[in-house]
Amino acid sequence: MKVVIREDIDKYMDELKSWLLETRNVPLEEMDSFFSARIDGYEEHMQVWKDAYEEFAGLVPKECGHILDLGCGTGLELDRLWERLPDIKVTGVDLCQSMLDKLVEKHPDRCFEAVCMDYFAYDFGVEKWDAVISFESLHHFLPEQKKILYRRIFKSLKENTKFIIGDYIACCDEEEELLRRTYFEKKRSFNGPPDEFVHFDIPLTLAHEIKLLKEAGFASVEAAGSIEGATMIIAKK
Ligand SMILES: C[S@@+](CC[C@H](N)C(=O)[O-])C[C@H]1O[C@@H](n2cnc3c(N)ncnc32)[C@H](O)[C@@H]1O
Repeated sequence: MKVVIREDIDKYMDELKSWLLETRNVPLEEMDSFFSARIDGYEEHMQVWKDAYEEFAGLVPKECGHILDLGCGTGLELDRLWERLPDIKVTGVDLCQSMLDKLVEKHPDRCFEAVCMDYFAYDFGVEKWDAVISFESLHHFLPEQKKILYRRIFKSLKENTKFIIGDYIACCDEEEELLRRTYFEKKRSFNGPPDEFVHFDIPLTLAHEIKLLKEAGFASVEAAGSIEGATMIIAKK
């Protein structure tokens, strides 16, 4: 896997700007409602990351006993992981009950604990997990929110284990700033409570993501590769 966030940054940024213009009057949706409303076509839509799920699952060390998946959704990464490691125990935290229901329906016999809640409010415990993973979920949050979350993830991992992220990473500072500015503009006209989670992508650049992870205490943080805009990052405790 090569680490190439986007192949053609100029073309990508032109397309992103056109899309933001076209969708400028589209209101924000609350996170849980967004995913619940799209549950039927969700897995087909995510097939763009078919190969990324395979690679991501391959990054989980085979000696892991119990891992935590943040924003597990319907478990597309777990479909691949359980093929490789059928006995691994997973706790999956997700806001959206309908996504979790689909996961449990697909995998009735796996060792899986579904936790329907906000992962910012979840009690991670201390030195508890053999790995923490998250695929395509964390790019919905601001750096100040991630900073606290990453620190808690760091504390919750056993010594010499890994936090493995597969996520949308901004290809340049301009993308990060443009999306964050658009997010705040849209938030101003959002009807819900100010601190309610909304579905809008606000990815950080790789440099900013790595900085946050190092500040949280991780001893080494490295990008392992990118597939179709999903970049894998391994943060070692
Ligand atoms: C794009 S989906 C990815 C799901 C799954 N990891 C996959 O790749 O198919 C993002 C998921 O993150 C969940 N999510 C977003 N914010 C969350 C939060 N604060 N706490 C728990 N789950 C959250 C959403 O409900 C959704 O299921």
